[in-house]
Amino acid sequence: MDRIRIVGGNRLNGSIAISGAKNAALPLMIASLLTDETLTLENVPRLADVAMLKRILGNHGVDCMVMGKRPGQNGSGETLQLSAREIVDTEAPYDLVSRMRASFWVIGPLLARMREARVSLPGGCAIGTRPVDFFIDALKTLGADIDIESGYVVARAPKGLRGARVRFPRVSVGATHVAMMAASLAKGETVIENAAREPEIVDLAACLTKMGAEISGAGTATIHVQGTERLTGARHPVLPDRIETGTYAFAVAMTGGDVVLEGASESLLGEPLRVLSEIGADVDVTNEGIRVRRNGHGLSPVEVTTEPFPGFPTDLQAQLMALVTRADGTSHIRETIFENRFMHVQELARLGADIHLDGQVATVKGVGRLKGAPVMATDLRASVSLVIAGLGAEGETIVNRVYHLDRGFERIEDKLGACGAAIERLSA
Ligand code: EPZ
Repeated sequence: MDRIRIVGGNRLNGSIAISGAKNAALPLMIASLLTDETLTLENVPRLADVAMLKRILGNHGVDCMVMGKRPGQNGSGETLQLSAREIVDTEAPYDLVSRMRASFWVIGPLLARMREARVSLPGGCAIGTRPVDFFIDALKTLGADIDIESGYVVARAPKGLRGARVRFPRVSVGATHVAMMAASLAKGETVIENAAREPEIVDLAACLTKMGAEISGAGTATIHVQGTERLTGARHPVLPDRIETGTYAFAVAMTGGDVVLEGASESLLGEPLRVLSEIGADVDVTNEGIRVRRNGHGLSPVEVTTEPFPGFPTDLQAQLMALVTRADGTSHIRETIFENRFMHVQELARLGADIHLDGQVATVKGVGRLKGAPVMATDLRASVSLVIAGLGAEGETIVNRVYHLDRGFERIEDKLGACGAAIERLSA
């Protein structure tokens, strides 16, 4: 099992190319199931989760081919051609879905196109129980019959789905993706209320529109979808990863230095960049992307609550906490999206952080220094918070179970190492 070894204390200087967003690439790849034509996605990040989804889609009969880049095409990612000419299997098995929960989202396109789907319940994960009740209610509202049979969601719509008014009790990114994809092939109009407003929702809507869907309101709380008979192929670039961008921005704020995050888009990161400026980093938008600097002055404490977009994203909560362990004062971080997303706390404490948990609120008292130690990654974003803490700690930090990192961060040791970090991967 790979490990990452970091010796802290080096400043970060240079530039980091931001990859395509994992959380956009996954729903975009799943959208290929909606058409028998070819969907070409550009700037797809090379991540373990993307590789796993290629395997899952292959199970349904989707051909995934990696293509060469077009002359002048920007972005560091792969170009994927996905062709679901014929769907050979409408079942998504437990052993695959349980390893990458977003694969549960295939239920929407399979039901919309094939009028049936048998998809394993994803089960919980480290950060929470992760139920799928909103998905089930939405698909029932769109006319599906749903049964739960030995751990599988069995969905049928023999007469096809029909447009309806879908209202989510709380914002859900995945359920909004699935409702939008299912509604795009339903008969009639669907209105999705209390929809997620994340940029990845807007990116999927833009791709579906290129495929012939009629969608308006993506990015707002109310999305209108006029169903169509069929969807065509299209070509679509994956938008830059705002969570990767925020992660590296917090890393520079931790170590000090001056880094340009190439290809990053400020419009995707309003709140995190505002918080970063409040903490004491200099953040500037440039032609290449976003420039983050901190030279000399200390870090100020902050009060942050995670919220659906455009609020502070839960996927940057652990990274923020790592940073403010070194602030001159006490910060409070409230997690409102997931019920168990503080597993990085006890690992940060091993590095000397002073953090007290009271329910969903973490009180982080800044300490003068962190000292390197062996730590354990528990989930994707918690693992990268340990890398950030290690970069700012004295001595050596070993992050174990690095497969969590590889799910969502492309070549992290290369990207940070190129900016001066003392970081290397130790292959077991
Ligand atoms: C997406 O997960 C992201 N994953 C998550 O990123 C992200 O943290 C999350 O959205 C919130 O922004 C991908 O895009 C692949 P939700 P998703 O449905 O869609 C509850 C990462 O690190 N809920 O918006 O699964 C749920 O339990 C990952 O890249 C229900 O109760 O999240 C949670 O408390 C982690 N019933 C809240 O809603 C449902 O049917 C928001 O979850 C669905 C969700």
